[in-house]
Amino acid sequence: MNFVESNNLKSALKSSLTKTEFAFAPKAFDSFGNIAVIEIPKELDKKKKLIGETLLKLNKRFETVCSIESDHEGKFRVQKVKVIAGKKNLIATYKESGVTLKVPLGEVFFSPRLSNERLRIAKEIKDNEIVGCFFSGVAPYPVVFAKNSKMKKAVAIELNPSAHKFAIENVKLNKCVDRVDLIKGDVKRQYKKFPAYFDRIAMPLPHTGYQFLKEAFFCIKPNGIIYFYEIVQKGDFDLVKKQIFDCAKESGKEVKILRMNRVRQFSPTKEQVVFDILVTN
Ligand SMILES: C[S@@+](CC[C@H](N)C(=O)[O-])C[C@H]1O[C@@H](n2cnc3c(N)ncnc32)[C@H](O)[C@@H]1O
Repeated sequence: MNFVESNNLKSALKSSLTKTEFAFAPKAFDSFGNIAVIEIPKELDKKKKLIGETLLKLNKRFETVCSIESDHEGKFRVQKVKVIAGKKNLIATYKESGVTLKVPLGEVFFSPRLSNERLRIAKEIKDNEIVGCFFSGVAPYPVVFAKNSKMKKAVAIELNPSAHKFAIENVKLNKCVDRVDLIKGDVKRQYKKFPAYFDRIAMPLPHTGYQFLKEAFFCIKPNGIIYFYEIVQKGDFDLVKKQIFDCAKESGKEVKILRMNRVRQFSPTKEQVVFDILVTN
């Protein structure tokens, strides 16, 4: 389990917090293998160390506990984190779907909560297909695809130099150098090298991904599929559908939305969704 919701942490904190503090005690955290990342409400600012140490005692596999110190910010979508207990190490060693990934927390975007999505797409990839992984971060999508499909190869494009550096390490670590090409660069510039080249393209860049739909339409083969991610108000798929159809029309493409699905909760009122877009021409 990557997103762990458990009453154990909250109960373990009961005797060390006042009644008022206890009302704010967290009970969920994300697991990045050897590192746990937890959001601590500001009311418990002075109890961070205590909460971190309690979590370390409860879960022996964690060596480090970090607190979340910001939202995902900037073009690299990086979230600041701070070590609050355990080893002062921010390089997580994380496993999913038969792969191991090194992730420098606080330097790159990475979400363990998208592991089901990565495996779902891997299972849809057919033998010998070529897959575009736009916005590829430390390469979780291409590496999971390489390990869990018979694709010919993936081409991964990422702007953040630190993410690219770890992507190189992760591709080596998982012995898929010959099937994953890594490009450090901007999708806006790199896409021109790949006209009608990909059978599938994954586009995990919520909030601004629609600005790159035109580039994805340029790169996809006829009858290829684009996996497009966005954040929406719960259940409200209409605006994104319109963006997809408008951009397809401008690009001279015929599209059919094969699937629209919730991927995960984003906030109390918003959710992350995925659109599987079949491009027929
Ligand atoms: C939401 S993250 C997804 C990262 C990775 N695919 C994952 O799921 O862990 C989006 C990534 O896109 C990268 N990015 C943003 N704009 C980009 C651009 N124009 N070209 C290439 N990469 C970009 C960011 O640095 C970030 O790593």
